[in-house]
Parts: sequence; C-alpha cells; structure tokens
Amino acid sequence: MNSRPRRLRRTPVVRAMIREHAVRVDALVMPMFVVARESDAGPISSMPGISRLTLEQAVAEARELYALGVRSVLLFGIPDRKDAVASSNYDPNGIVQRTIAAIKAAVPQMYVIADLCNCEYTDHGHCGIVDEHGDVDNDKTVDLLVRTALTYAQAGVDVIAPSDMMDGRVEALRRSLDARGYTAVTIMAYSAKYASAFYGPFREAADSTPQFGDRRTYQMDPPNAREAMREISLDIEEGADVVMVKPALPYLDIVRMARDTFDVPIAVYNVSGEYSMVQAAIERGWLERDRTIDELLVSFVRAGADIIITYFAKEYAQRAATRG
Ligand code: PBG
Repeated sequence: MNSRPRRLRRTPVVRAMIREHAVRVDALVMPMFVVARESDAGPISSMPGISRLTLEQAVAEARELYALGVRSVLLFGIPDRKDAVASSNYDPNGIVQRTIAAIKAAVPQMYVIADLCNCEYTDHGHCGIVDEHGDVDNDKTVDLLVRTALTYAQAGVDVIAPSDMMDGRVEALRRSLDARGYTAVTIMAYSAKYASAFYGPFREAADSTPQFGDRRTYQMDPPNAREAMREISLDIEEGADVVMVKPALPYLDIVRMARDTFDVPIAVYNVSGEYSMVQAAIERGWLERDRTIDELLVSFVRAGADIIITYFAKEYAQRAATRG
C-alpha cells in the first residue's frame, strides 16, 4: 500500500497543520432585529437565543459584538405602523435610520449593513407595491426601494443589501446613490435568493408573512441553478459590489458554482430556519452544540463564501475568544 492518508490525521498538530479552511470571525455578520415600539422587543420563540431589540439594546449589542470581533451587523426594522406603500420604511426618522445613526455614533468602525426590503413595512406583507391584480409591480417597487435607500445612506449606512428580488434594482440604486454623492455606499445584492421554506422563523421575527399568495413570483425557484448564475451576473453588471446566495445549507452547490464563475466577493446567508433547526436538535440533545456549529460554518467557507451572515455569529465569536 503506498497511499496511507491516515498518516496525516494521526495527531491534532498535523491535522491543524494541513487544515485547508478556517472560519474567520471577521468574516461573520450578525443579523439584528430592531423594534420601533418597545413593547415589540423580547425573545423570538422560534429562534432560541435571538431577540427583537430596542434601539438602546441594539447599540449595546453592537458594542459587545465589536469587542468580540464581530465587525458587521445586518439590520432589520420592525416598524410601529404598516401600510400598502411601506411609508414607514422611507421615513428619515424610521427605526432603521435611527439605528444606523446610533450605532455609527457609538461604534464608528462597525460595518453597518441595512437590509433593504418592504415586507416588514407593508400591511399585506409583500416585498413591494401590489397592483390591482395582486401582483407585485416591479418598477414602482424599485422607485420605492431607491427612496428608502437614500434615507439609509443619509443616516450613514455602510452597505445597502436589497433583498426584494425586483429586476433592475441594483442599477437604479447605484445610479441614485451616486447622483447624490453616496459613491462610497456599498451594495451587497441578495442575488440568488430562493423562495425558501427556511425563512419561516424570520417571518415571525419580522412580522412579515404575506397576507395572501407567496413570494414565488419574485424569489427564485429552488430547483434552478443556471438561473442563479444569470441573476448574479446581472447584479454584477448593474454594479453590485458583493453578491449573495440565500439560504446557505441547501444551496452550497450554488455558492460553489458562483465562486468558480465570478470573481466578486460572495456572501452566504445562513437563514433563520437553518438556525432554528439546529437549535431545536441541540435542545433535544440530538446534536452536539459546538461541533455542529463549527462544521456548519466551515462548510460555507469550503463552498467558497467570503462573507457569512449567521445568527450564530455572536456565539461563535464568544467561543473563539475563550479558545484564545
Ligand atoms: C426580506 C428578508 C427575508 C429574509 C431576509 N430578508 C424574508 C423573506 O424574504 O421572506 C430572511 C432571513 C432569514 O430567514 O433569516 N425580504
């Protein structure tokens, strides 16, 4: 036998020496839910360990995360009023705008990303303007997104992350941001975002379940892979700085395909349902906590992701800190 791969697995030292991939805490992004109304704050039952935060709590959390080495947060707002046109989303004094400003004032180096979508702000729960046939109107929705994005930019956001899946929004955003002098505001596009069952817990957290129909006319059909490459290439042409694949675990083939096809940074979103299923199994004693989380996170790196958005970010960083 001339090949004995086990030789290189004999001790922790040699295993560490030849290890091909590692999770960097500074590549992690922690999502945060921030409420306009204090009574909406508190634990999210389907996401053990994750809470909806008041603005003050969000600032405190940002400080703590930064100290732990998590240098980026992704903000979601839970407004105190909803209507058909998501007007609480483009309110310059809205919850996301105020949170951006407060975090940037308290922790200036924190890289603040704002999710840009309308579903948390519309009374019907869809990601855009619904027309008389019940369809989401693409171009009117893009105008709305631009309007909101400019208020986020004004508040000092570092990155805008459109998650609506409307066509042409990246180009419209880039053009309007540049025209107002916000050339430094970065666009991280949710490019290959699938119509996934794994967003279930998020919709409880963000109170954004569609009141009729579903999101299949704008989010991607799960069996499609080539189409994901097309969505990503369009977003790059339109000016996206970073592209995203979402969810993560069931779409690691898409991450790998994107990594081999494009040379822009790729983000992956380890979504709410992926978090909740792991937490549920850990709670039942069916999976071992630390090893499971480590194995999950490194799978994203191995698949080719540069940026990992995960509800495990804080916990992982805490453990990395105690490991030394
Ligand atoms: C907003 C948005 C969603 C998520 C991120 N941005 C929900 C959806 O599209 O229904 C999901 C995040 C998660 O599940 O953790 N459109």
